[in-house]
Amino acid sequence: MLYNEPMNYRRCGRSGVLLPEISLGLWHNFGGVDKREQNVAIIGRAMELGICHFDLADNYGPPPGSAEERFGDLLKHEFAGHRDEMFIATKAGHLMWPGPYGDWGSRKHLISGLDQSLRRMKLDYVDVFYHHRPDPDTPIEETVEALVQIVRSGKALYIGLSKYPPAAFNRACTLLAEAHVPCLLHQFRYNLLDRSCEAGMLPAARSQSTGSIVFSPLAQGMLTGKYLNSPTLPADSRAERSDSIFLDAAKVAADADKVARLQNIANEAGIPLTQLALRWLLQRQGVTSVLIGARTVAQLEDCAAAAGQPALSDELMELLNAE
Ligand SMILES: NC(=O)c1ccc[n+]([C@@H]2O[C@H](COP(=O)([O-])OP(=O)(O)OC[C@H]3O[C@@H](n4cnc5c(N)ncnc54)[C@H](OP(=O)(O)O)[C@@H]3O)[C@@H](O)[C@H]2O)c1
Repeated sequence: MLYNEPMNYRRCGRSGVLLPEISLGLWHNFGGVDKREQNVAIIGRAMELGICHFDLADNYGPPPGSAEERFGDLLKHEFAGHRDEMFIATKAGHLMWPGPYGDWGSRKHLISGLDQSLRRMKLDYVDVFYHHRPDPDTPIEETVEALVQIVRSGKALYIGLSKYPPAAFNRACTLLAEAHVPCLLHQFRYNLLDRSCEAGMLPAARSQSTGSIVFSPLAQGMLTGKYLNSPTLPADSRAERSDSIFLDAAKVAADADKVARLQNIANEAGIPLTQLALRWLLQRQGVTSVLIGARTVAQLEDCAAAAGQPALSDELMELLNAE
């Protein structure tokens, strides 16, 4: 059954859109290499829990494109009839096909990219379409015009920007607002190991009154503590998988001391580190939704339990902020 457990929803900037405190991303675990029945179970459980926002991109997989294909297949079969209960995002702007048009932020790339995504997902439109990363060479005016054209054509209801540094973000927001297609959401990395957005992206989103959706809240799993005190990488973990190129043994080792200190704080507080990491984010001013990844239903449920919790004490927030 859908939406049969309580979930808190937060308003996205000054828009009419509400997003769940916990949203689900399909960057990993939903590719052509992953088990279909596991994906059915995760999406089904997410909808029961009220996690109705699904975040995709053209290049998610592996192989690239296969997460959208898998999601489209599930929408057509197991979740047919439920499109309007979901808020679906996709993105373009990273390398997708060979030649000069398969990457970045030209009108050519963005419009072709979204058309390909819609075909893979068998959808007429997405709820939010993001430019996945800023393009240093294409004039921002061209990128924004393409995004406006996409909304006017009905292929996306809203526009989002991802990983835009503050100056480019502010300029894009101004141009979008002038075209009466306000930026709905800014998407960027934020977790207890990487707080770089606090110096620019987070305050910029707040000052533009857009929503902020923050990715890799568990630092790809490191902030669950699963890599501590184990001489080898746990089987099936992201750092252990050969198709995971952004997390490996070296990255785990580099952050191990800090994760161990955070684990001690979690132990002292009597709150599991996963919960602490997600609740800390949900309490940071300006965060609309926390965008998790889940490989199993149990992980999804564990993360969902962070929503709707009482505020962490000032003392505990200060301890975490000081790390
Ligand atoms: N805009 C962008 O450029 C961008 C970039 C990155 C991500 N994103 C978005 O953000 C989403 C989330 O990113 P992420 O996958 O890095 O998020 P994350 O939540 O930090 O990491 C997810 C991984 O952590 C582990 N995990 C999650 N919950 C767990 C639990 N309760 N117990 C134990 N392990 C748990 C799992 O890894 P194991 O496989 O090890 O179990 C899972 O695959 C992506 O899917 C994507 O939609 C966007």
